Order: sequence, then structure tokens, then C-alpha cells
Amino acid sequence: MEVTINSEEETLDPLDWNELRLLGHKMVDDMIDYLATVRERPPYNPISDDIKKVLDEPLPIESKSAESVYEEFLQNILPYPMGNIHPRFWGWVIGTGTPLGMFAEMLSAAMNSSVGGGDHVANYIEMRVIEWCKQALNYHPEASGLLVSGCSMANIISLAVARNDKSGFNVREEGVISTSNQMTIYGSTEMHFSLQRAVEILGLGNRFLRRIPVDNNYKINIQNLEEAIKFDINAGMKPICVIANVGTVNTGAIDPINDLARIAHKYNLWLHVDGAFGALVSLSPDLRYLLQGMEYADSLAIDLHKWLHLPYEVGCVLIRNERLHRDTFATQADYIDYEEKKKEKNEPINYRDYGLELSRSFRALKVWMSIKTYGTEKLGRLIYQNCCQARYLTELIENSDKLEILAPVELNIVCFRFIKPNLSETQLDEINKKIRIHLRESGIAVLSSAILKGKYALRCSITNHRTKNNDLDLLASEVVRLGITLSSNYTRA
Ligand SMILES: Cc1ncc(COP(=O)(O)O)c(C=O)c1O
Repeated sequence: MEVTINSEEETLDPLDWNELRLLGHKMVDDMIDYLATVRERPPYNPISDDIKKVLDEPLPIESKSAESVYEEFLQNILPYPMGNIHPRFWGWVIGTGTPLGMFAEMLSAAMNSSVGGGDHVANYIEMRVIEWCKQALNYHPEASGLLVSGCSMANIISLAVARNDKSGFNVREEGVISTSNQMTIYGSTEMHFSLQRAVEILGLGNRFLRRIPVDNNYKINIQNLEEAIKFDINAGMKPICVIANVGTVNTGAIDPINDLARIAHKYNLWLHVDGAFGALVSLSPDLRYLLQGMEYADSLAIDLHKWLHLPYEVGCVLIRNERLHRDTFATQADYIDYEEKKKEKNEPINYRDYGLELSRSFRALKVWMSIKTYGTEKLGRLIYQNCCQARYLTELIENSDKLEILAPVELNIVCFRFIKPNLSETQLDEINKKIRIHLRESGIAVLSSAILKGKYALRCSITNHRTKNNDLDLLASEVVRLGITLSSNYTRA
């Protein structure tokens, strides 16, 4: 290649910073208006085929003004959100986000730090935030921790440490294939599917993730668990880990953690807590009694983008034994400035040694800003408020002869359905499925669903700081109204 001296070297910075400032100010104003008026819009707006066609464009070759691209965002993207910023979004387990979180994302993007280690401030802020997570969860001060994309990743990291610790051989060197005793992991049938994926990706095999039945409260059956462990030991397997669900995804049930800790101790198993949302009830003085035994966890996975309302993505994994955590992931390479030594107090942690990623975003900043600004008392009150709202909705349902509760409400999740006498279970399933679609498409509310004991449930999961009780009044009355209309053509099959 011929080297030429270019008198006009290029950059991605603007030629005129003031022009960018104007655009930036407009974006800030627009987004504040957007958030301030969220209640005036429906939670969900279906994307038309025309818009889908507009979005289906070829790779842009030429430059274009940022103003015009922003205009396209306003026209074609912003009006079609998932909907979780809305007060009547109660699908899956999705947090609301906050205006402050939006700005924190901007600030961390401006710094654009990669947080894999080194003596720069982002590592110190992550260290601080991890300390806060341990304090908030009343977990062991000596535990190590890492911010991750979410609880799926936190579950993978936890089970990787569990596998390497309990396998009895050097999995990193030998690979799982070398084991003579097949390793087995135990959790309830209500486990989140991220745990299945973790087991699969760790080479342990889905069928060796034992699904233990639950009781009528959707909590793991301890007797069945112990029988399964004994059976596997007798069959020559090597049980390595038991999982406690602290807030199951379907109904929000909390497994008996103390009992699981006892079993884990008896059979020398790793105790992992999937506390994606449930573990955060530790912030509520009225609810934290539900978490008795969580301190026995060897690893703890939580999400901050759910019930702490941080903007997506951010979760956190805590590992009680720092050495085991580091031993699972730390890797040396000449191109990384690596020093194998015990960390002195106040020295930054090399976060690349605690997980799979080397390049990592400055997620810690939004967590740091939010926790400092709102404080844990307020965040705990909001969690409690959501649980009270779930009780409120439960009462509305119980007081209606057209609605039925389908699972006990322990935290913030209410599973229910529209009922009508003389209709079959299949007909009721069909009608309730239609109700859920209508609620969403007509812009009333977003719910998800669950199948409980074979019945289709409308699932209202409240991790939403914008919800008010009268939103739930509307939900209950609209489900009844839609149910009556949609069931009018049905007669007993
Ligand atoms: C109980 C539970 N575990 C794990 C996850 C996975 O978390 P994420 O979606 O943040 O990866 C979820 C998500 O809803 C969950 O509810």
C-alpha cells in the first residue's frame, strides 16, 4: 500500500461540537417528554408491515446527518417499544428502568471504559457496587462478585464454579469428558430455563439436571430431592450441586432454603441460589424474613435490571469463596499485564478473572448512581409496594365470581384466569389466551402466561415502580369484560 500524507485526516467527532450539543439537548428534551408522558400511551403498539419494510434496509454505505438518523429513530423505532416502561406492563419479570438510569447510561458511554481490570476508576466503582450488593443481600463480606449481563450469565458463572469445585478433578485441564462419575445437579421443576442452558453449556448434560417435583405452593419437595440424590449416588453418579429458587419465574415461590442448605451440607453439594428477583426482597424489612438460609449459599445470582429498575442489562453474581471463583476463570496471557498476587485492600480487582468476558462495559456506574440517589430504603419500599399490589389484585380476583386464582401469591406474581361455569378446561384455556392477546393488542396491559397444573394462567408479575392500584382495578375489570365478550360464543363442548 502506498502511504500518502492526508491533509484532511478523518475522525468520527463532529466538525461542529455546538451542532452536536443542539442535537444532544433535543434528544434529552424529547426523552424526558417521552418518559413523563408514558401513561398517556398504550403499553404496546404493534409494528405495522409498512414500518417493518422501512426497517428492512441495506447496509448504509454513505454518511448521513445524525439529525436525519435521529428523525428516523423518532418515527420508526421509538413508537414501538417492548412496553416495560409503562405502568401497566406486567409480563415475564421485567423492570421499568428510570430516567436517572437513562442518563447514567449516557455518562458511562461518554467515558467508554472497558472494565476488565486495571487502575482506572470504573474498576473501583464496580468494587464498591459489589460491596453494596453483598451488604444489601446480607451476604458474606469476603465473597467475590461480578456484574454481568443478567441472571442467565450469573447462573452460568455460578454453576461453572460449582462444577470445578465439586468435580474432584481438574475440569479446566481435563474437560468434563474425563469424569468416570457422571455429575448431577438438582433443582425443582419450576427452575428457570437459564439453568438448563448453563448445565448444557458446561457439558454436564440436560438430563443430569434433575427436576424435582414441587408441592402445592410450587416449592421443591425436600423428600423427593433427598430420594433422588440417594438414588443417583447408588447408581454411581456424583451429585455436585443443588439449586434454590428464590422467586420462581412462574409464581414467585421461594424454596425452603434452610432445608436445601441442610441437604447440601449432608451430601457435600454446592448450594446455588437463583434469586433473580426474589433475593432483592432483602431490601424490605417486612419481607426479608422470607430469605432465611440464603446466607448458606455458595453462590448467589441476582438481577438488578428487574426489581432495582436499572436499565438493561445488569445482573450480579456473588461467590462465597473468592479463590474458587478466580480458579475457575483466571487465565494468563502475555498480552495482558498479569500479576498473580494476593490483592491488597483498595487495589482494583481484575474483573476478567471472575467471568467469561474480558471487554466489559461500565455497568457499575448506573448501579452506583441509582443506589446513591434512591437509597436502599426507598428501593425496598418499592419492592414491598409491588408485593402489596399483588395482594390487592388477589383480593379483587377473589371477590369476583368470574375470576379464579391459580397459585398462592408469595411475592409479586399473581396467576389467575377468567372462569365461566359449564365450560371445559380446553375452552377456558382458549378464552384466557385470547384475553391476554386482546389486552396487549388493544393497549390495555401486557401480561405473560404460565401453565399451572395443566391450566393456562394469566400471569401478572409486578416489578414496576409506576404501577398504581387503580391500574390493577382496570386490569381486573377488563379481564372480566373481555372474558364475557370472548366467551359468549362458547357452549360446553
Ligand atoms: C428466576 C429467574 N432466573 C433467571 C432469569 C434469567 O435472567 P436474565 O433474563 O436477566 O438473564 C430470570 C428471568 O426472568 C428469572 O426470572
